[in-house]
Amino acid sequence: MKDETAQSTPEGYNPPPRNSKQCKQDTCCIWSYVSGALTSAFRGPSGRCNKVARAAIRLGFHDAGTWSTSSGFGGADGSIALAPGEVDRPENNGLQDIVRRMKNWQRQYGVGMADLIQFAAIHAVVTCPLGPRMRVFVGRKDSNKPNPDGLLPGVNDSADKLIKLFNDKTIPPHDLTALLGAHTTSEQFFVDKSRSGAPQDGTPGVWDTLFYNQTLGTGPLPKKVFRFASDIVIANDPRARPEWESFSGPGGQSHWNDDYAHSYARLSMLGVNNMNDLTECSKVLPAAKPYFKGAGELLTNE
Ligand code: HEM
Repeated sequence: MKDETAQSTPEGYNPPPRNSKQCKQDTCCIWSYVSGALTSAFRGPSGRCNKVARAAIRLGFHDAGTWSTSSGFGGADGSIALAPGEVDRPENNGLQDIVRRMKNWQRQYGVGMADLIQFAAIHAVVTCPLGPRMRVFVGRKDSNKPNPDGLLPGVNDSADKLIKLFNDKTIPPHDLTALLGAHTTSEQFFVDKSRSGAPQDGTPGVWDTLFYNQTLGTGPLPKKVFRFASDIVIANDPRARPEWESFSGPGGQSHWNDDYAHSYARLSMLGVNNMNDLTECSKVLPAAKPYFKGAGELLTNE
């Protein structure tokens, strides 16, 4: 019987039944079923991406980000879910629920954890209205060894410290600027607990460029918006500012979407030493939603 969670895609990929021989012969087939489950989990009733999607995007970063050119190990290896204690580090506060969901999906579909975490981070972005449909690869190796500590950024770090931290991960300021745009969907719960649930722009759950404008302080700032100190220092640093402004200006949405996709592809491969053995499964991802009523004002001018 065909699993109801599978979905056809813009390429017209219709997976064979889950337990069939044909499905087992196609590495991407099972991911189509994973994709169906994630679509249901990530989409809110209004069509925005919901808190589960947002946590999945952050989890993708926190698993992959524990790597640097001198760390020797770590990166996108699933350790945030598999290694004892890693998810309990203070910088991972709030990720426990999404890790629990990842473990359930892994049990249900029998896929690798490192791949599942990156697949979900990429799937969550395309689930958000206006989010790009990015390329997705599977075949990473899992690890249950806690990754090096101290390689994730702090919200009160200086621009110099943040830029160095990301440079050491082979991510230059331009790419950091693109990746920080993920805060267009986000909400904070632990930086200021008295403002738990406060978003980082006026349209959480929508992948628009309003975050870039509102972090710069151009235009009115809704009271509910909570800007991260780290975003403000990067936005104002000369190594990032021109790109930041370009994302926030006319034509910024497609420029940013392209750059985010490029930069996230790199992030999702940190510490992955068998890159040439991976299989591309982009064909199982759902279609992007390039329009959404109520997305950032600038969009309407593009
Ligand atoms: C300078 C680098 C970064 C810093 C300092 C930073 C810091 C933070 C902080 C403090 C939170 C709020 C956590 C909470 O209180 O609940 C957060 C949330 C989030 N971050 Fe970042 N972040 C950075 C980079 C990134 C990157 C590169 C991505 C993804 C590519 C990302 C994606 C997210 C998402 C999606 C959330 C929202 C989670 C939710 O709504 O539950 N962040 N980040």
